[in-house]
Amino acid sequence: MFRLMNVTRRFGGHAAVNAVNIDIPQGQMVGVIGRSGAGKSTLLRMINRLVEPTEGSIRFGDVEVSALRGAALRNWQRDCAMIFQQFNLVPRLDVLTNVLLGRLNHRSTALSILNMFTREERIMAIAALERLGIEQTALQMAGTLSGGQQQRVAIARALMQQPKMILADEPIASLDPLNAKVVMDALRDINEREGITVITNLHTLDTARNYCERIIGMSAGKVVFDGAPRELDADAVRSIYGAGADGSEIDETMTSTSIRRPSGPLVQDNIKESASVKPLALAGI
Ligand SMILES: Nc1ncnc2c1ncn2[C@@H]1O[C@H](COP(=O)(O)OP(=O)(O)OP(=O)(O)O)[C@@H](O)[C@H]1O
Ligand SMILES: [Mg+2]
Repeated sequence: MFRLMNVTRRFGGHAAVNAVNIDIPQGQMVGVIGRSGAGKSTLLRMINRLVEPTEGSIRFGDVEVSALRGAALRNWQRDCAMIFQQFNLVPRLDVLTNVLLGRLNHRSTALSILNMFTREERIMAIAALERLGIEQTALQMAGTLSGGQQQRVAIARALMQQPKMILADEPIASLDPLNAKVVMDALRDINEREGITVITNLHTLDTARNYCERIIGMSAGKVVFDGAPRELDADAVRSIYGAGADGSEIDETMTSTSIRRPSGPLVQDNIKESASVKPLALAGI
């Protein structure tokens, strides 16, 4: 069980996250929704310890995450892989090497990368790329891939960490609807098949409804809704997003860039023509 107790983060006098209590059993797929500035990213970043809580306790089983230091902290950060809106790949390295970088935290010292990656790790990386349907891009520079492909590389890299939890901060916010679907399907598949907990910030209500078994709604740093998608009625939506400026009902489509079939021609998951192939020096292939 993963547990946040009374977790608060202040920036100056402002509480970005305010006294949050959440219990998450292993293997849940959780969507976090809320307006811009509600505290969604700060919440995820505290879990991963990219941001320190000002108050409160974050516990995984018997371990107090907020007290971890040194190697124990690095192990925790390996256990909860992060996925970002902007992918955070190394654009000038090939895809396979980017994926292999997910193994770095499994090594005792940074020096061990001088030994190159093992054959097993390279096989594991190819398998991760195959699983995400992008093995054909393995030798390409990561920066030359389409956004949807880059996010799949980031997910493959996260898998290489063999995490207990994946924390995804708006993983589809920069993607077109088709790629958004591919990425969300991949996260769901990983959640269902490996039992890895997925906590994902989403700015589209319908994506949260479609993919998450549990939705946490935040407003001004507080959790104002925590329940199943079917419990997210109009009142709950209003408590999360507030009423319209004129007091009118919030139209759900306003919160949505949606995963729908586009009405125009289907967007191809294209590889840019200028793609260049770089030797897999770091990967040792
Ligand atoms: N490093 C920081 N320094 C100062 N204030 C910060 C910092 N990080 C976040 N905040 C503030 O904390 C609040 C919550 O920010 P956060 O990024 O967590 O919101 P969010 O829900 O992820 O929003 P968005 O949907 O725009 O990504 C905001 O008011 C933001 O300005
Ligand atoms: Mg954010």
